[in-house]
Amino acid sequence: MMLRPRLCIGMSVAPTWLSGEGWRHRDSGIEGLYSSDLALDVARRAEAAHMDFVFRPDASFLPLPVMAQSFGFSSLDPTLLLASIAQETRRIGLVTTISTTFGHPYHAARQLMSLHWLSRGRAGWNVVTALQGNENFGLPEMPSSQARYARAAEFTEVVRRLWASFPAEALLVDRENGRYADTDLILPIDHHGPQFQVSGPMNLPQYPGPDIPLMQAGGSSLGVDFAGQVADMVFGMTPDMPTALEMRRQLSERALAHGRQPRDVRLLPGLSLYLGETRDEARALFLATHARIDRRQRMRLAQEFLGLDLRDWPEDRPITPADLPADHRSSRCASHCEALRRILRDQRPTPADLLARPEILASVHWQVIGTVEDAVQEIAAWFRAGAIDGFIAVPGGSIRSLDLLLEALIPRLVQEGLFRPRYSADTLRGHLEE
Ligand SMILES: Cc1cc2nc3c(=O)[nH]c(=O)nc-3n(C[C@H](O)[C@H](O)[C@H](O)COP(=O)(O)O)c2cc1C
Repeated sequence: MMLRPRLCIGMSVAPTWLSGEGWRHRDSGIEGLYSSDLALDVARRAEAAHMDFVFRPDASFLPLPVMAQSFGFSSLDPTLLLASIAQETRRIGLVTTISTTFGHPYHAARQLMSLHWLSRGRAGWNVVTALQGNENFGLPEMPSSQARYARAAEFTEVVRRLWASFPAEALLVDRENGRYADTDLILPIDHHGPQFQVSGPMNLPQYPGPDIPLMQAGGSSLGVDFAGQVADMVFGMTPDMPTALEMRRQLSERALAHGRQPRDVRLLPGLSLYLGETRDEARALFLATHARIDRRQRMRLAQEFLGLDLRDWPEDRPITPADLPADHRSSRCASHCEALRRILRDQRPTPADLLARPEILASVHWQVIGTVEDAVQEIAAWFRAGAIDGFIAVPGGSIRSLDLLLEALIPRLVQEGLFRPRYSADTLRGHLEE
């Protein structure tokens, strides 16, 4: 069952369409990666398509082997980047990523409220517990999932209390009587928790408009429970519709358990789009994008994700979950590894099949490699089945996928009555509640 009448659509401004070999195209514009040029261009066009928000994922580490061939995780700070985009856009939401595992809630609260002020009510926060990067923050290893989610819960609570500690009504700016603020309304938070000691109040008033929506990324049961408690949106990894339906069901259950409504938590899976005029063209784009990942590298990825050693595996022998070592613990995303295990269970692939899977080569996002019409049909089917509330568009391969998304796919969704024909609000919360 659809929980809302229209799709919520976010646009990744991480230039996914330039990853792999994509940046090597003559007109890729990759030189603009460390300025705001690339992201600003996409944000302007996403705003013209009246998308709900642009979104910048983030990581705090640099895997060097990737950098030899592509830009990997090297990027500007997402919140600073979005602050500069805020000046050049008017209505589109701006969702930044801040990790609760490495940062401090006072800094996060202030940065996010600053972005909210600078964008006049358009900020959103993607709350991540992060996958790697502990070595950059004095941690000998990544804390366990339990420890990370416990810290995330406390971190988020402190951030929200800091935002509320200097309410908008406290700001008087009464020139006549010389009263700048009503300090009776600005209160300390006196937080003394297992992770953080924060007195407050925050040194920045709340923006006098709608609040800052939260997004959550992470698919384990702890992650889903956390989302049910605090998130307005979930950036999900759901490679197929049954997985999305199940995640949607779990989110609804956890939202209700925390006294919220299922429609308060929107499931927005990443949607990787390799688009072409024909299916053959789209497939060729996908293969060309990953051409440099050779068989040896693919086998290494299978080893990393699944603990599976394919070096001496007979070519015609199917792989099943029983072939996986029971004690393998991957440092990769648990949801990604789980999706690969499901492929082994449901499809029993041969080594050649497995090593050609998008989930080995790229991400485990929902993937459409085809025409705009293929994408429209699939999005409509998932949405009408109640599997998703929208998606975050992650175009791949070349700028052509991005162009087709913005110029053909979104207008088709509007035509189908699945997406707004124009904005009626100018804050992120306003778009979400429309
Ligand atoms: C779709 C998706 C997007 C994510 N994006 C980020 C990100 O931008 N930055 C980051 O540090 N971690 C990111 N993560 C990692 C999560 O925050 C989380 O640490 C990880 O998924 C482990 O939690 P889980 O076991 O609940 O999935 C992402 C995870 C998922 C599933």
